[in-house]
Amino acid sequence: MSIISHKLCLVGDFGVGKTSLVRRFVDGEFSDKYLSTVGVKISRKSLELDHINSNHIKKMQVIIWDIEGSNKFKAIAPSYFQGAKGAIIVADVTRQETLYHLSEHIENFLSVNPHSYIVIALNKSDLIDIEYLEDLLKLYSFNEKVDVIATYLTSAKTSDNVNHIFNQLAEKLATNHSQ
Ligand code: GTP
Repeated sequence: MSIISHKLCLVGDFGVGKTSLVRRFVDGEFSDKYLSTVGVKISRKSLELDHINSNHIKKMQVIIWDIEGSNKFKAIAPSYFQGAKGAIIVADVTRQETLYHLSEHIENFLSVNPHSYIVIALNKSDLIDIEYLEDLLKLYSFNEKVDVIATYLTSAKTSDNVNHIFNQLAEKLATNHSQ
C-alpha cells in the first residue's frame, strides 16, 4: 500500500474558525472559547482514500498548517504557504469583511503555490438563516477560478461539511499525485 503525505494550509482572517475546523476534523471536538493562534499550529491526520484511478485504498497523511489570521501576521503568512499542495480558505458568514477578503487570500496563496487546489469554507453556518446562506454560496462560488474546487457552508460547531472539505481536497491531491 502506498502512503503519500501532503501539506495543506488553513487560511483566512482572524477568528473565522480555522483552528476550530482543524480541531473538529482531527479530534472530533469543538469549543466556544477563542484562543487566537500565534504563528502556526501544525496537526497531522491519516486518511484512507478510495482512489479513483486505482483499485487500491490509498493511505494519505495530511499535514495541516493552521496559520494565524491577524493583520499583523499578513506579511509573514506567505512564507508558511511554501510547499503546500492545497488550502482551505475560510470566512465567517457573520462578518462580511471576512467574505470580502476571500479573493485576496486566494491570490496570496496561489502566488506562492500556483499549481495547487483550494476549497472555500463559509464557516459558522449554524449562526444564520438558510436563505441568506444560499445567497452567499452563489456570491462566493469563485466559478471563474480554475484552482478553486468548490465552496461549502461549514460549521465547526455542528460539524456540518467539515470532514467533507478536508476529504474532498485530499481526494483531489491523491488523483493529481498519480497522474
Ligand atoms: P485565529 O487563530 O485568531 O486566526 O482564529 P481562528 O480562525 O483559528 O478561529 P477559532 O477557531 O479560534 O474560532 C474563533 C471563535 O469562533 C471561537 O470562539 C470558536 O468557538 C468560534 N467558532 C469557530 N467555528 C465556529 C462555528 O462553526 N460556529 C460557531 N457558532 N462558532 C464557531
